[in-house]
Amino acid sequence: MRLIFMGPPGGGKGTQAKLVSKDAKAVQVSTGDELRAAVKEGTPAGKKAQGLMGQGKLVPDEIVNEVLKDRLQKPDAKEGWILDGYPRTLGQAQTLDALLGDMKQKIEKVALIDVPFSVIEERVLGRRTCKGCQASYHVKFNPPKRADGKCDECGGELFQRPDDSAEKLKTRLEAYKKDTVPVIDYYKKKGLLTTVDAGTRGVVDVESLVRGALGLGNK
Ligand code: AP5
Repeated sequence: MRLIFMGPPGGGKGTQAKLVSKDAKAVQVSTGDELRAAVKEGTPAGKKAQGLMGQGKLVPDEIVNEVLKDRLQKPDAKEGWILDGYPRTLGQAQTLDALLGDMKQKIEKVALIDVPFSVIEERVLGRRTCKGCQASYHVKFNPPKRADGKCDECGGELFQRPDDSAEKLKTRLEAYKKDTVPVIDYYKKKGLLTTVDAGTRGVVDVESLVRGALGLGNK
């Protein structure tokens, strides 16, 4: 399957992309994860992106487009993908159309995981991310099961992302409203958009709604 998951920062698109990708013949492709890995490795793209990401601002299209292009050409993305956090600007959406045209691939559906802004702050401030494998947890809604508080998947240390603060979240939400909401309209006009009204539901219920909206059936 070739899908795009959209939604506000901290709304749960990464959580759902990971769950659905497990049995949907699709690899999760998160530009946020790719950029964080580039920062960690100190690549030229990572060096340019680091400051902007720390401030909660969008990374310029030309950098993100290259990151995405490289990722989609890796062998594990051949069968299918779920884009999580890309495209976030109209320029990125148009670049993606051109890239997919060249690759003879098509977007099947775009799922907007819609949550009220009122739940986002608690989710973002409580998120903890694994330093090793980037698995995502939440201090209240999804704490690690291990008694030592480390990552269940790889035993790595959990940390709070530098952009997961109330102040940076404001900047991220502004970018979402200004640059990403027009992308939602872009896919609506193309007839690709399906909206999942996730409300304040927990992860398991939202997964059922997402699967229903995408016609995937429940596990
Ligand atoms: P990115 O990593 O993509 O951040 P984001 O879009 O702000 O999204 P998040 O990862 O914060 O949240 P999410 O919706 O995936 O939520 P999650 O599932 O983790 O990007 C980071 C930065 O990189 C950007 O600010 C920008 O600088 C740059 N960047 C990336 N892509 C870019 C692009 N295309 N263009 C330009 N710049 C780009 O859930 C959040 C928390 O809530 C977790 O703790 C989770 O456990 C919990 N949770 C999830 N669902 C539920 C639920 N239903 N109930 C209770 N808790 C839940």
